[in-house]
Amino acid sequence: MVTVTFVTNDNKSAQAPAHSNLLRVSLREKGGIPFKCGGGLCGTCKCRIESGLENTDAIKDKERKHLTEADFANGYRMACQTFVNGDVSVSWQPRPRPAPRVLPPTAGSGSEA
Ligand code: FES
Repeated sequence: MVTVTFVTNDNKSAQAPAHSNLLRVSLREKGGIPFKCGGGLCGTCKCRIESGLENTDAIKDKERKHLTEADFANGYRMACQTFVNGDVSVSWQPRPRPAPRVLPPTAGSGSEA
């Protein structure tokens, strides 16, 4: 088993079998890594391996469409394309929350019609 620590999610940690896909672990354990396609197309799951980069597998061609060599050197990976073979800590850029909707006050109770 390996331990994945989701730094951006209050350092939540989860156990997973070795050779687990990082995004799948996040989904199963509610780790919080953002995603859309899950297939290496959208780039949403960009994350940074804060520690344990040596415990990740080889960089995939799909990742090279979204990340530069400098990104890789700084520990960035695409979670949906990354498998972990040992303990890792991962962070990501939190997605902005949508502005809260402010509803107009209701006019009357609806019984005066
Ligand atoms: S979720 Fe779309 S590239 Fe990973």
